[in-house]
Amino acid sequence: VATLEVPVLIARKRDGGELTADELAAFLGAYLDGEVEESQVAAFLMAGVIRGFTEAEAVALTEVLVRSGETVDLSALRGPTVDKHSTGGVGDTTTLIVAPLLAAAGAQLAKLSGRGLGHTGGTLDKLEAIPGLRVDLSADEVAAQVSSIGLAVAAATADLVPLDKKLYALRDVTATVASQALIASSVMSKKLAGGADHVLLDVKVGDGAFLTDPSEATALAELCVRIGEAHGRRTGALVTDMSQPLGDGVGNAIEIAVAIEVLRGERQGERLTEVSLALAGAALELTGVPRDEAHGRVEELLADGSALDRFRSFVAAQGGDPSVVDEPRSVLPEAPVTATWVPDEGSVQGFACRRLGELAGRLGAGRMRQGDTLDLAVGLEVHVRTGDRLDGSSPAVTVHARTDADAEAVLAELPTVVHVGPEPADPVELVQARVGLDRAT
Ligand code: URA
Repeated sequence: VATLEVPVLIARKRDGGELTADELAAFLGAYLDGEVEESQVAAFLMAGVIRGFTEAEAVALTEVLVRSGETVDLSALRGPTVDKHSTGGVGDTTTLIVAPLLAAAGAQLAKLSGRGLGHTGGTLDKLEAIPGLRVDLSADEVAAQVSSIGLAVAAATADLVPLDKKLYALRDVTATVASQALIASSVMSKKLAGGADHVLLDVKVGDGAFLTDPSEATALAELCVRIGEAHGRRTGALVTDMSQPLGDGVGNAIEIAVAIEVLRGERQGERLTEVSLALAGAALELTGVPRDEAHGRVEELLADGSALDRFRSFVAAQGGDPSVVDEPRSVLPEAPVTATWVPDEGSVQGFACRRLGELAGRLGAGRMRQGDTLDLAVGLEVHVRTGDRLDGSSPAVTVHARTDADAEAVLAELPTVVHVGPEPADPVELVQARVGLDRAT
């Protein structure tokens, strides 16, 4: 480290140059060991976000991240091992639908998930709304549960990609999340370390996502696919709309209730249901099932209750109350105050989607600071989507709050967050691109 000239490396990045794999490994390895200052890494990240990283740098970053910790060996599992990952969104509860669907289809999912980040929710926080459910499983518990019921959803331990944890926390507070190379290396390092042979990514695009430009999102998807394939993992991606909330629920218990309602077949044709089916079908395609057959199979497994049964087994296996599956809204925590916003007649023109996630956070569903305790009951229920026609009596959003004052503050802001206007508006396409899927296997 004595010979590591950190300011020289930062200056090269600032001036648009490239760092070699060895330089990145030495610099970030020293950061993980506490030998390089956080301010230096922050300057490097900002230089890279503004100047751009090369593909070689993205590949090298991924390697450095994977090598910073342990990796999981899933080779003892029977059946194809599958992982999925979303780049993060609002009302994005697809894991809780896709994982039981795929397990019901015979795949094996050892899903290591995260907590909420910025305006986006996290699967672990949501799951903790189910009374009794544990997410702190040991590696042995995960392995045993996956071999008996096909799925486990647990917190990644501190030893899995520790450098990503450190970098991510720094990126979160230095406005350096939105970079293709940084997102691709962060996502793919966790997928490579997680050990699955098949990796399906849901790359979100729109105001509620980290990348808002469709061509950038597609380029990110392509980069992730190239990194995965270079490591021998069959990798594919869907680029999906995040200009508006995906499911109606935004907030932990509310999102669980909505996900269970999808699994119960009570939300047919809704966007969360459609994306979950598209993702589960695409993941089966990766395992070698022909496209039409894959999508037909997942539709059947949702319709015949197989995915719901799998979800029930999963909740019970992780110590949760399985009756949540029968009566989600009475088993899950409920906020004491609800208030509904009914806009004037018009059409929904669009959303300030990120703000919607922030408002749920402000109600208590997200963290304002690292380590904050969440209020799992609060959040929003969004009943409309872009293009919907409202007749002046249609509820658009229900606020679930801890106090009247909280509910009123959010209600007052909603008209600037859900845009309703007189002109008709078109719905936004849900699945905007398929990447890495349509090739001979
Ligand atoms: N999700 C991740 O895991 N990493 C990122 O960098 C962005 C979204």
